[in-house]
Amino acid sequence: MSHESTVPGELGDPAVRAAEPPEPGAVTIVVPTFNESGNIRELLHRITESVPSRLPCEVVFVDDSADDTPEVIFREAQDCPFPVTVLHREEPVGGLGGAVVEGMKAAGSDWIVVMDGDLQHPPSLVPELVATGERANAGLVVASRYIKGGSRAGLAGGYRIAVSRGATWLTKTLFPRRLRGISDPMSGFFAIRRSALTAEVLQPLGYKILLELAVRSRPREVTEVPFVFQERFAGQSKSTAQEGMRFLRHLVGLRTASALARMVAFGLIGASGFVPNLVGLWALTKLGLHYVPAEILANQLGVAWNFLLIEQLLFRERRRHRRWWDRVGRFALLANADLVLRIPLIALLVDRFGMGALPATALALVLTFVLRFVGTEALVYLPRRGRVRPGGGSRTARGTM
Ligand code: GDD
Ligand code: MN
Repeated sequence: MSHESTVPGELGDPAVRAAEPPEPGAVTIVVPTFNESGNIRELLHRITESVPSRLPCEVVFVDDSADDTPEVIFREAQDCPFPVTVLHREEPVGGLGGAVVEGMKAAGSDWIVVMDGDLQHPPSLVPELVATGERANAGLVVASRYIKGGSRAGLAGGYRIAVSRGATWLTKTLFPRRLRGISDPMSGFFAIRRSALTAEVLQPLGYKILLELAVRSRPREVTEVPFVFQERFAGQSKSTAQEGMRFLRHLVGLRTASALARMVAFGLIGASGFVPNLVGLWALTKLGLHYVPAEILANQLGVAWNFLLIEQLLFRERRRHRRWWDRVGRFALLANADLVLRIPLIALLVDRFGMGALPATALALVLTFVLRFVGTEALVYLPRRGRVRPGGGSRTARGTM
């Protein structure tokens, strides 16, 4: 990108300025690091080479390393023409995403560029990301591998490419509107205007911080710049299968942020419970049990299945307000009350309101389902304000959501 070398913030001739991209403000480069000591020197060197002197810049490392990365940063920062900060975290809350949010909160510039510490994201693109954002008056500029001029050359191996492609497709399918205009929501390389950042709404969980930002912060104008995903300079990727699971939980959490979406997920999980229920019924009757007790037992199997999925996927963050046996008891009570309530409700609708058996059953199914969802939220997973969980060690119940 070519820029005129005026001092940032200085107003030039308005007629000239209209034709030129406006001068970008300062930039804070946030780099999350986890055992990246072998990359620091080269990274700072390339940032120094890339960022022109008229673009005021600072670098904030947010570090969760167990190796000597912070010491290496202190040493290498001595020769840098810009300020370098290290925020070392004792507890890596939220993983990579949590680290990035910490760094963004500490940033003082108009623009924040987030980039990996292993040189897979070329530092030479930093000025262009900011300049494009200024020119397009955008809140967010995504460096994308999937638009013309970009590529994922450095993504090692067919397996990683397949996973990355699958994850991108799934994510775009789940958030068609929020991710409109973002071809690469999995990218970890982007620039965000500080005024577009609403850090307090973010709940980062693992690697996909851009997705978190796009869905929850929703910056108004979004543009993209192509980039070539490079090979790692030194060291190894920190991504694991566990990180993959964390990504799926992140997706579910984002998708079920509204009560309506949660109810749909609750219904889908409930429907999946038919499988263990029917398998259980088949096995128990096969073992010679009378079908009535078999029905009751098999139903509990379905309830247990639903409970496990709902705890893992839907209310994972809201479990600590009650002890597990308290939650199991309440959940099972609600699930069984649903069955017990349905028949008298159908009788009421048919006898008192003169409905046909079929519409009455359909209405009763919907009503008891909604009641069960609302009941489960309110009676099992609603945070109890200001209460300390009895005997829960040092961990206290959170007062808010
Ligand atoms: N502070 C901190 N805490 N940093 C972390 C953590 C953590 O728990 N985990 C990873 N990092 C840092 C790494 O040190 C590196 O600088 C950067 O985050 C990316 O980690 P890698 O392990 O190199 O990730 P990757 O190459 O598999 O994934 C990259 O590609 C994805 C797209 O395919 C990253 O750029 C992702 O952001 C991107 O989504
Ligand atoms: Mn990497």
